[in-house]
Amino acid sequence: MKPLIAGNWKMNGLQAARAEVEALIEKFAGAAPADRDVLICPPATLVAQFAERYSDEGVQIGAQDCHALAGGAHTGDISAEMLADAGAAYVIVGHSERRADHGESDETVRAKAEAALRAGLTPIICVGETREQREAGTAFDVVGAQLKGSLPNGGAPFVVAYEPVWAIGTGLTPSLADIGAMHDFIRSKTPEGARILYGGSVKPENAEEILAINNVNGALVGGASLKADDFHPIIAAAPGEM
Ligand code: 13P
Repeated sequence: MKPLIAGNWKMNGLQAARAEVEALIEKFAGAAPADRDVLICPPATLVAQFAERYSDEGVQIGAQDCHALAGGAHTGDISAEMLADAGAAYVIVGHSERRADHGESDETVRAKAEAALRAGLTPIICVGETREQREAGTAFDVVGAQLKGSLPNGGAPFVVAYEPVWAIGTGLTPSLADIGAMHDFIRSKTPEGARILYGGSVKPENAEEILAINNVNGALVGGASLKADDFHPIIAAAPGEM
């Protein structure tokens, strides 16, 4: 399975951030390597411009959220069709920050994932337990329920991202054994061919050991995707020929 290394820029990135993408492409000596998928999900304001500028350099562009409907009276929202029209190839749905900040339920996340597929985008569907749930021993139940509620019906091509909430932006990560156990569990509940990414404090220092775990098919990287100097070694750490 071709690894996918995805950067989620969250609510970061002005026009000047182009320099980081250009520095990354320069580190690849002109184009991202073909044996791994490199994806950047900038804020919506930069999606069209980045897609136009960088897709030929092998950097795919994605968005961080979409509405479930194709259009209509939904002030401030952006549909999956609009993102596809802007040149996006992927869209993250159900990130824990959206589940928490915007009260998104599994049902909402599934509707968004189905909207992405309808528009020809690949959804990256996020799941993950909180610290309290991990400590209470319910992480597998929580993630199992999120998968059951959030994954689209059928085997359409999508990506799942396992992001333990307590590992996001904290510098903490589960043990390699715990990541492996959760990815094996997700694999058992996910159609063949769907890539399963790990996310939460992925850094140049831990990327290689995390990306070598069985059933870890890539990474969803937050803070360390904002700087080419950090993101490039993470991309390089994915198994392959680079
Ligand atoms: P960090 O890599 O900053 O921990 O963020 C992970 C994340 O939420 C990616 O979607």
